[in-house]
Amino acid sequence: MMICSEWGRIMRKIYLIGFMGSGKSAIGRRLSFLLKIPYYDMDQEIVKKMGMSIPEIFERYGEPFFRQQEHEFLKTFRDEWCIVSTGGGVAVNPSNSKLMRKTGLVLFLDATFADIWKRIHRDANRPIVRTSTREELEALYTTRKRFYKSAAHILIRTEGRSLRQITEYAAFQVNRLKSNER
Ligand code: S3P
Repeated sequence: MMICSEWGRIMRKIYLIGFMGSGKSAIGRRLSFLLKIPYYDMDQEIVKKMGMSIPEIFERYGEPFFRQQEHEFLKTFRDEWCIVSTGGGVAVNPSNSKLMRKTGLVLFLDATFADIWKRIHRDANRPIVRTSTREELEALYTTRKRFYKSAAHILIRTEGRSLRQITEYAAFQVNRLKSNER
């Protein structure tokens, strides 16, 4: 389709950023279905490449190594018109944010800490959750928020909205910017 490829030439990817449990993967999958664009989950791509789970990568190689993998992914991932949900730590690195802004549209899913806590506190697959108290996670959430805000083109508040409403709003923003690009 002409419009898509024209827009795709300028902004090839749609990145979803935000704290753990803000709904990046759930929204990414739905947005992919709605817009008919392929979807990739960055964590899953790293897991596939390494052949081990995120907790295993953290345990065996440490967090700095995992952060390198995230950066590598952004630098090398296929140059394709697609949706990418990022890990919660990705946008904290300014060179990652710069790269994302240069190669796509960055959407920040802004969820409240209360909602996030409900979703993540029992998750054994998130090493940072496993090793932090609620207070520590809330402090991390507060620190990271300003990075998400400055990396994002669009901020999407998720509180009190269903996945469907959030997805439709994200799609509306994508289409709005797409028509501006023409
Ligand atoms: C992390 C978030 C996780 C995953 C890893 C580290 C973080 O992704 O990348 O456990 O530092 O916030 P999600 O945001 O998809 O949970």
